[in-house]
Amino acid sequence: MSDERRYYQESAAFIRQQMRHAPEVAIVLGSGLGGFADAVTNAVSIPYENIPHFPTSTVQGHRGRLVIGELEGRAVLVQQGRSHFYEGYTMQQVTYAVRVMYTLGIKTLILTNAAGGVNPTYRVGELMLIEDHINLVGMVGNNPLMGKNDDTLGPRFLGMSHAYDRQLRDLARRVAQEADVPMHSGVYMALSGPMFETPAEVRFVRAAGADAVGMSTVHEVLVARHMGMRVLAFSGITNQSIDSLDSEHDANHEEVLEAGRVLVPRLTRVLLGVLRELPA
Ligand code: HPA
Repeated sequence: MSDERRYYQESAAFIRQQMRHAPEVAIVLGSGLGGFADAVTNAVSIPYENIPHFPTSTVQGHRGRLVIGELEGRAVLVQQGRSHFYEGYTMQQVTYAVRVMYTLGIKTLILTNAAGGVNPTYRVGELMLIEDHINLVGMVGNNPLMGKNDDTLGPRFLGMSHAYDRQLRDLARRVAQEADVPMHSGVYMALSGPMFETPAEVRFVRAAGADAVGMSTVHEVLVARHMGMRVLAFSGITNQSIDSLDSEHDANHEEVLEAGRVLVPRLTRVLLGVLRELPA
């Protein structure tokens, strides 16, 4: 067995000892969206620093713990805070939690993030269902599937035409509509951060076909798809990306966290609806 595989199993074994439910679904909460975890009932919380080999999050607005319990009668594992590439972690560390989730038997992964609205029709506080992505970080050579492939986990060459599960996307759109939550469907582009974009970069991102831009998520999608997990993902639009040098405004982390206050109740309505109706 590879060292990595042994680490996943040691992390999973530690988590298993503490949890009362075997989770079927994992939910990753992005910046400012951690409040969703409060909805979990019969919860057990495990700080990352207690879990062997687990990377910790150093970012303000990320709690850094797993919350395992129930939502809408389903056993869930909520990752409250993630680690990012810009924190200096390797791509393998950034996606470590997803490998552990799979090792715990979880087959469905729901990812969320805070994102800049590059599409000029997007407003702060709206959700975007991620239909597809542009992995700019990966395209320039930083992605977690580089290096030796563990063929027992997944294939060397991975197709990405159906990264975001169509059935789950249809379900999410229906649920959002029924719950009266404004939600776009669009393309997410991943940049490394930690800087926000220059106006020229925003115009570049838009011209390339992205509707929202952020610093996470796609790496986790790659690893989840590598192991055959079903993926659903949402961006919360926390700021409108600035495409002109004449703007007085500059993007900042405070506005990202502030927008989370509007986004959490909306995201909660959509996620609970999805969990209620998720096919077993
Ligand atoms: N750019 C990149 N990442 C982000 C942004 C942004 O404007 N907002 C929240 N995360």
